[in-house]
Amino acid sequence: MTQQTWRTAWAPGRVNLIGEHTDYQDGWCLPIAIGRGTTVKFRPSQDAISVITSDRFHEVVRVNTDTVSRAQIRGADSAAAYETGWGSSVVSLIAALRERGHEIAAIEAHVHSDVPLGSGLSSSASFMVALAMAFTDAADSPTSQLHGVELAHTAQRGEHINGVPCGIMDQMASVFGQEHNAVLIDCRSATTQLIPVPDSLGVVVIHSGLPRTLADSQYAQRRIACAAACERLGISALRDANLDEVADDPFARHVVTENRRVLTFVAALRANDPSALGSILNESHRSLADDFMVSTPELDTLCSLLNDAGAYGARLTGAGFGGCVVALADIAEAQVIADEAARRYQQLTKLQPLHFITAAAAGARFLANRE
Ligand code: GLA
Repeated sequence: MTQQTWRTAWAPGRVNLIGEHTDYQDGWCLPIAIGRGTTVKFRPSQDAISVITSDRFHEVVRVNTDTVSRAQIRGADSAAAYETGWGSSVVSLIAALRERGHEIAAIEAHVHSDVPLGSGLSSSASFMVALAMAFTDAADSPTSQLHGVELAHTAQRGEHINGVPCGIMDQMASVFGQEHNAVLIDCRSATTQLIPVPDSLGVVVIHSGLPRTLADSQYAQRRIACAAACERLGISALRDANLDEVADDPFARHVVTENRRVLTFVAALRANDPSALGSILNESHRSLADDFMVSTPELDTLCSLLNDAGAYGARLTGAGFGGCVVALADIAEAQVIADEAARRYQQLTKLQPLHFITAAAAGARFLANRE
């Protein structure tokens, strides 16, 4: 690529249809990529300094792409300013790219995103995936371009270096999403299978108006509870546990039953059985609320209101503790159902919900200039 050519990397957010808190236990999940995402418009810098701006954050990130090391990030070098904020994500991603041996070049870039921040729709994963594509594409060597599972793993590694202990679902959904299809992810083998979503189904998303932060202690605590259950059972992941073995442990029981629900949900999608899909969504929500304890009264209310308004079923989506719910509804009624549930929610809670109807969209790619 010549010095002056601008390119645009784009990566979507995701909505998880089912399979919550299963990814870091080698389980299954079934997200769709959505039409909202992060755009990184970039060109190679003239020197080793990357200069990155964003519509969302005022701070301009300037970083020497050649000298970033992991030690810099968490304060070993106090001159490395980006211990927090979005600069920290950039530096962490560069460190992940280097650690995994990827060739990168410094870029001048502008970031734009239409995924609501902290909503459980993977704004962060879509940012990391798009930025990784930009840094490696700028290196302009035949082997530098990053895609597929390695792109997802590198973006996930960037989150880990940045102190966010996420699983692999969000990055895989962002990379492997396809129009009209949900992505069945086997998180043990990091393999995917596309599962067609019938056109008659509308996917409703409502943001509760309560922000959530993934790095917060609750998510990490659930991971610890699951790891403790594995240790007790002498297994490496709860994917290998039977229901009998976890009957008395609500956290582990959620993971084991949720994995089963993913597979029955896939069968119900294939059979185009909306009422079965709805029941499984409702069961998933109950399990997340009662066993895994990651719901909030507001998310419970939204799910009930969506059911009352005529959705087939509804559940919280993403890590929980705020953020969004997802529901399935007849495509012809989805908008009316979403409007009604959001209106009643606002009346009851005085919170401002953001709601929209979405559909399975294509995954990360470079956009042609006119896109
Ligand atoms: C967050 C994490 C994912 C996954 C979900 C819960 O979105 O980033 O890896 O663990 O929570 O299913």
